[in-house]
Amino acid sequence: MAEIRIRNTNELITGEENVRDFLNQFEVIYEHWDTSKLPAHLQENFALTDEHKAEILAIFDTEIKELVERRGYRTWDVITLSEATPNIEELLAKFEQIHTHTEDEIRVIAAGAGTFVIKGGDDIGYFDVNLLPGDLISVPENTVHFFTLTDERKVVAIRLFVEENGWIAHPYEDASFQKA
Ligand SMILES: [Fe+2]
Repeated sequence: MAEIRIRNTNELITGEENVRDFLNQFEVIYEHWDTSKLPAHLQENFALTDEHKAEILAIFDTEIKELVERRGYRTWDVITLSEATPNIEELLAKFEQIHTHTEDEIRVIAAGAGTFVIKGGDDIGYFDVNLLPGDLISVPENTVHFFTLTDERKVVAIRLFVEENGWIAHPYEDASFQKA
């Protein structure tokens, strides 16, 4: 299950209900999918073929269709990142720029881990949402954030989009942001 760390105070928020309640005040959606239904060859595999990716989408077809129905997504895919990803350093450097999008950024962690760093209100500042397999997060449109990997640098995630170009990153300058 996801955990939250508030950067200014180092406060840790744990437990599914607490995490959901905290995120909901920023209109960030948090849900959880059952990744135990993934077969063994997809649970810790970060070198996915196109067939593997299609298999993951088929396994979560019901969950995806439910989200499509509820939130209007039109396309979806699976991405994987690991040390084996060509230009991983470059990609991470790009990811770690604070930005916004004109649509929500929704990700479901299928394997590995990832962190969304999100700007809350001025009082709270930035907080990290550390995501594990099964965690679903939707960061609302125009919310300041970035995504990064944990030290293990391994993730498989399902992404859904309303518009092909809706998730283009618009850089956000913030002198108050300090890298942890
Ligand atoms: Fe983003």
